[in-house]
Amino acid sequence: MSERSRNKSRGKTTKLSSTVLVKGRGLWSKNAVPGVKVRGENLRKMEGDEWRNWSPRHSKLAAGILRTKQESSLLPFQGSQALYLGAGHGTTISHIHDHMCGVENEMGGSIVAVDVSPRCIRDLISLAKKRPGILPLLADARKPESLRPWLNGRVDWLFQDVSQAGQVDFFLDACEHFLAAEGIALLSLKSASERAVSGGSEEHYSNAAKAMEEVGLEVLEVIRLKGWEEQHALIIGCAPHDWK
Ligand SMILES: C[S@@+](CC[C@H](N)C(=O)[O-])C[C@H]1O[C@@H](n2cnc3c(N)ncnc32)[C@H](O)[C@@H]1O
Repeated sequence: MSERSRNKSRGKTTKLSSTVLVKGRGLWSKNAVPGVKVRGENLRKMEGDEWRNWSPRHSKLAAGILRTKQESSLLPFQGSQALYLGAGHGTTISHIHDHMCGVENEMGGSIVAVDVSPRCIRDLISLAKKRPGILPLLADARKPESLRPWLNGRVDWLFQDVSQAGQVDFFLDACEHFLAAEGIALLSLKSASERAVSGGSEEHYSNAAKAMEEVGLEVLEVIRLKGWEEQHALIIGCAPHDWK
């Protein structure tokens, strides 16, 4: 092991919750299915529990959590209900599940995991069998009314990562339909999915932030993910107490 990696693994530990911690430069979630990996990630014993490495190279949420300047974490509340649009094969969702559900969903959380691809939903169904609390939903995030029957009221945490043109409009639509007052909404914005503009990615980020403010969300931070994900930003919005 090199001196540099020895220092990193010795690094200071900051607990973001009882289930997520930063050690050195690494992010870890407490494994809700001990002994089982989701995407070949490293497992490590710490404080008597098993933790899974949550890589910022495979998860824009992880990248945002490691880079945010916010004092409060970007994570949902444990045991709450979250809406996740663009669930993919479930890499990020598995870590959110570690955090807000725990072993056999002992915390009573619920993650409505929406994706338009049947292949992703197949993977999510396998994941959900081992991880109760995940609700895979084959649906189009551009049609929020189709999601309503699966949600128990509004959510405190809404995340979108669809890498598709028009992503800002349907993120805002989903927020208007489903975000609770004082809830957090996180938009993973891929500027390369939108038509080219003279100001490049920065123009897309600032237009998206403006659009969020126009509907009444407070924009807390625009986190550029360069280095981990090129042409991507995670934009953090918060709904006011008198939202909708
Ligand atoms: C970048 S991947 C998501 C990766 C995932 N968030 C993660 O961190 O593990 C984008 C996903 O969005 C899905 N997607 C694209 N357009 C969508 C839409 N209109 N509704 C729902 N899902 C959509 C794609 O099928 C794809 O799985």
